[in-house]
Amino acid sequence: ADYDLDGHPDFLSKEIHEQPSALRRVLAGRLDGRFATSRLDGLHLDPRELRGIRRVTFLGCGSAHYAGQMGAALVEELARVPADAEQASEFRYRNPLVDPDTLYVAVSQSGETIDTLAAVEELQRKGGRVVGCVNVIGSAIARQCGAGMFLHAGPEVSVASTKAFSSMTTSFALLALLLGRVRDLSAAHGTRLVDGLRRLPDAVDEALAASDEIAAVAQKYAGARSMFFLGRVRGSAVAREGAQKLKEISYVHAEAYAASELKHGPLALVDATMPCVIVVPDDELVAKNISTIEQVKARGGPVIAVTNADLPDGLADAVIRVPSVEPELDPILLGVPLQLFAYHCAAALGRDIDKPRNLAKSVTVE
Ligand code: G6P
Repeated sequence: ADYDLDGHPDFLSKEIHEQPSALRRVLAGRLDGRFATSRLDGLHLDPRELRGIRRVTFLGCGSAHYAGQMGAALVEELARVPADAEQASEFRYRNPLVDPDTLYVAVSQSGETIDTLAAVEELQRKGGRVVGCVNVIGSAIARQCGAGMFLHAGPEVSVASTKAFSSMTTSFALLALLLGRVRDLSAAHGTRLVDGLRRLPDAVDEALAASDEIAAVAQKYAGARSMFFLGRVRGSAVAREGAQKLKEISYVHAEAYAASELKHGPLALVDATMPCVIVVPDDELVAKNISTIEQVKARGGPVIAVTNADLPDGLADAVIRVPSVEPELDPILLGVPLQLFAYHCAAALGRDIDKPRNLAKSVTVE
């Protein structure tokens, strides 16, 4: 029954629409309203050990790496602990500096990706502390780590990761909240985040309701040779994963850039043939993002804005609206329409949605 299409034309559609229930499972039993924090017992870290963590480094490949980038941003913002995300493949070959006060988080849907497993083993050999963030129970990475957080997203069949990705980023919000609450994050702030996380699955459901509208936008732009995906700060990893999804399943070239970098290079490529997807979170940087949109428009570039902010009418050529939960958590929501956009571009181009050419669901051999 797990492998039933459930009335969907393909697994990708099914898995995109399963996200509200996947996120409910990620959150189940892990929100602590009384102490305004989260519970991640599988980490096997007590408050004193959590307090001793001086850096968090996420390791993963592909979408798991982009999820790690969102995780690093959440940890820095909520816990004020330095955090970064590394490609596990590069990490294992680089002779990394392994720091005993860093918490390494190995991120993998399958738990079988050879590069990520090798990074875990290299870390352990050098005395690093590594926990897993894995979907498949009993998988190699989960066993090798011996501690961590399972996603419980359910089986992900389609090659492109969607529900596992949003489950990863939601888990990292839980981790960031936990690390924040043993440091300077106040109980009131913690309560706001716990409430926001509780509302997240329904908000994802609401974001999915825009699917038909997004299909119409996708039909209009799927014929492009290339697209830019732009975002600043909270929107930047969202843009990177959005570009990755488009490339993987539609074979349309896409490149993600920090919106603030546009003028430092990529603007040279913007003309009427280069649609720009711009992620605009409703935060302090809205005005900056509006000026990015204006810069693209001034060069004749079509703009597709994905936003939960109120943008001036007529500013963008297409606006995909997303609900809000809390500003720190909204990036999780902003990613959802980008999955649908990639999905509908791929459908418009007649691609093999669940099995894109040249890609494997997990790369378990070198
Ligand atoms: C492959 C897949 C990607 C996936 C990556 C990491 O390259 O095509 O969709 O993101 O592996 O997989 P993992 O199972 O480790 O999350």
